[in-house]
Amino acid sequence: MGHCIFGLLLLFNIIFGLYAQCEDPEVAGPNGNCYWDEEKDGADWYTASSVCAFVVGDNSVPKVTNAFVNSFLVKLASDLGTTEPFWLSAAVDYSGKWKWFDSTNLTFTNWAPGEPKNSQLGYCALFDPQSGKWRSENCSATHKSGKTICEQFSKGLSHYDKLCPDSKPDDNINYDYSIILNKCLYVQPASVWGSWELFGNACQDSGEIKDAKHLSIHDDITNQWVYGNAQLNEPIFLSIHDPNGDGTFQWMDGSKVDYTKWVSPPPAGSCGLMYANSSSWYPTPCDFGFGSQDGTYICQAPPK
Ligand SMILES: *[C@@H]1O[C@H](CO)[C@@H](O)[C@H](O)[C@H]1NC(C)=O
Ligand SMILES: *[C@@H]1O[C@H](CO)[C@@H](O)[C@H](O)[C@H]1NC(C)=O
Ligand SMILES: *[C@@H]1O[C@H](CO)[C@@H](O)[C@H](O)[C@H]1NC(C)=O
Repeated sequence: MGHCIFGLLLLFNIIFGLYAQCEDPEVAGPNGNCYWDEEKDGADWYTASSVCAFVVGDNSVPKVTNAFVNSFLVKLASDLGTTEPFWLSAAVDYSGKWKWFDSTNLTFTNWAPGEPKNSQLGYCALFDPQSGKWRSENCSATHKSGKTICEQFSKGLSHYDKLCPDSKPDDNINYDYSIILNKCLYVQPASVWGSWELFGNACQDSGEIKDAKHLSIHDDITNQWVYGNAQLNEPIFLSIHDPNGDGTFQWMDGSKVDYTKWVSPPPAGSCGLMYANSSSWYPTPCDFGFGSQDGTYICQAPPK
């Protein structure tokens, strides 16, 4: 069986190797998709997913749809000289089911015996390149020298078109649909906004996306998602604010402040920023002036 799979793998590699347009040092997989080491070692799942999706929203940490892809990942890890586990794009979704990042079912699995040990929200799939087996792991966990392997899907995956509301095409919205949060999310550059008031309407105005609002954070999992994005887009302007300057903080989408992660108690009137170095919120004066500082903000919209 092992030889047979190896033989077939070789055949697939030869066939697809001829057609796959992978730019060195990317490597073509048996599915024709390109794979590479993103050189972001020790990332949690949110960060790994975010760095892979950076260029094209449809890229992700690997999705393993059959035994050929599974064997290919073992070989790829060996070629990259790593024995450390790395993330797959499978995670427990908002409804408690294991799903790939594009919201598809796990039709092929290669869990280690007794796995998945945890199937609750906040658990993701980790690939052990020594055994080729998968295990469930806290999505926030980091593995010191674990690589971030990315997969670029051949043209046309575009599951966001199906899952997320339409945007004005020329606004170039780079969506991410989070299976964990069941939300369509997109990161926007803040440099175009001159004031806090303009910032308040920014999500509705950009892309004319139905029911788009600033992201509010109500739990650790959402905060980790934001932190994953801060690795690429720091600083992130959080939409928490104190409009009356009396220490009564609010989220811009109108939701209650029921979770906070301030690094220190925020002075009245503060706004909040997240940097790449910590998942905590840094209080900052609100007059920092959008436009004077590079940064991003995050919008959310309900899926279709
Ligand atoms: C995914 O699995 C669920 C059962 O868990 C099933 O109801 C659904 O039809 C499957 N979806 C597809 C596209 O196969
Ligand atoms: C994952 O780990 C973090 C940090 O140790 C912890 O706060 C969180 O509760 C854990 N999540 C789950 C689902 O166990
Ligand atoms: C993180 O970065 C910010 C901005 O550069 C800095 O103000 C803050 O002190 C840093 N925090 C840590 C824990 O290094």
